[in-house]
Amino acid sequence: MEQKTVTAARTLRGSLTLPPDKSISHRLALFAALAEQTSVIENYSEAADPVSTLSCLEKLGVPVVRSRNRVTIEGVGRFGFKSPVEDLDCGNSGTTMRLLAGILAGAGVRSRLTGDASLSARTMKRILDPLTRMGADISGRDDDYAPLEIRPGKGIQGMRYPLPIASAQLKSAVLLAGLYGKKPTEVIETVQSRDHTERLLNLPVVQNGEGSIIHSSLDHQLPGQTGRVPGDFSAAAFWLVAGAIHPDAEIALPGTGLNPTRTAAMQVLQEMGAHIEIDEDERTGNEPSGTIRVKSSALRAVSLDPALVPNCIDELPVLMVAMCFAEGRSEIRGAEELRHKETDRLDAMARVLEAAGESFELFEDGIRIQGRGAHRPKAGIFESEHDHRIAMSAAVLSLMAEGTSTIRNSEATAISYPGFWRDLEELTR
Ligand code: S3P
Repeated sequence: MEQKTVTAARTLRGSLTLPPDKSISHRLALFAALAEQTSVIENYSEAADPVSTLSCLEKLGVPVVRSRNRVTIEGVGRFGFKSPVEDLDCGNSGTTMRLLAGILAGAGVRSRLTGDASLSARTMKRILDPLTRMGADISGRDDDYAPLEIRPGKGIQGMRYPLPIASAQLKSAVLLAGLYGKKPTEVIETVQSRDHTERLLNLPVVQNGEGSIIHSSLDHQLPGQTGRVPGDFSAAAFWLVAGAIHPDAEIALPGTGLNPTRTAAMQVLQEMGAHIEIDEDERTGNEPSGTIRVKSSALRAVSLDPALVPNCIDELPVLMVAMCFAEGRSEIRGAEELRHKETDRLDAMARVLEAAGESFELFEDGIRIQGRGAHRPKAGIFESEHDHRIAMSAAVLSLMAEGTSTIRNSEATAISYPGFWRDLEELTR
């Protein structure tokens, strides 16, 4: 076990190069493999989760050449995967497991998908049910958990599928299996979740009064995925909160992904009074990016609109930290999904806030936080519970604390942000 100590920062100043977006990295690699041409991906993430995706693809017979941040993938086409001799180890990565299961169940590639202790405890029933209904032969331990076993099935039937949970991983798994169906699959989404899959595969999306209908089928031409991965907005969020709550801060984050289905945390922070400026200056493929700047701000409480939850689901732990430093009572509800992440993030954050002496009330689907405005929380020993986002949220809180805090199992940050501790030092220098 590694641990890091964090002391209160005197200032937080500088410009950071964020790690490449994790969600986009996974998808560019998986979709490049599905195409029938070679794709070159620049700025591919070196974090553990997207690396798990690459090693699974290699085991499936996909030629992958890695040279630092550049990854070249020779697409094998949707029917070109080889049945792997070894297990496909998805590590800690839910996106790898759920998206790959959609592809391999669709293609009927005999395979076994495994994960670490955290991933093996996360529900997979949400994908097993619709994939089975589509005709895939896929099963999980106790009908719910990894390891997942996939066998050649009787072929994929198209399906009309109203999404029962606002989850981009579920949406993507069904759409990817739908790429193997002669009849189209239609996924109906009433609450928008991140839309990288639709964007990167150019899937037809029809808007109607209720939401969007996204189509996939065997006839859909799969594009190559040559392009550059933007910086990860979910990583930016830690610094946006740190910059807003710290009394002497000014931070610039160039090259950050600005896909609107990802950036609700910025909207929430702005509603709380955070001084945030955005310069949208680039487009990498279909994905917008630009520079975000944040500086010290006096924050007020907010009641988060539950419809925004899927667009800031990964940022909610650090938004809870921001809420502790706002004047008044803030609330997050409709966020039951937090209980199904790498840890139960509602319980894990409650333990962090408790150790820091903050006041809050926990619900099954959220939290109410009594903000104390600008103040110094208690320094503490914060347990990441092996969850990268809990480790980084606790570190941001520690930058404000009175004294020296310890973040236990600090190595968890490598799941999405291997340079996190170096960047934290850089800003506080
Ligand atoms: C992700 C979707 C989200 C998110 C996860 C990455 C993705 O999960 O929490 O970190 O890349 O599709 P859900 O779609 O299950 O909410």
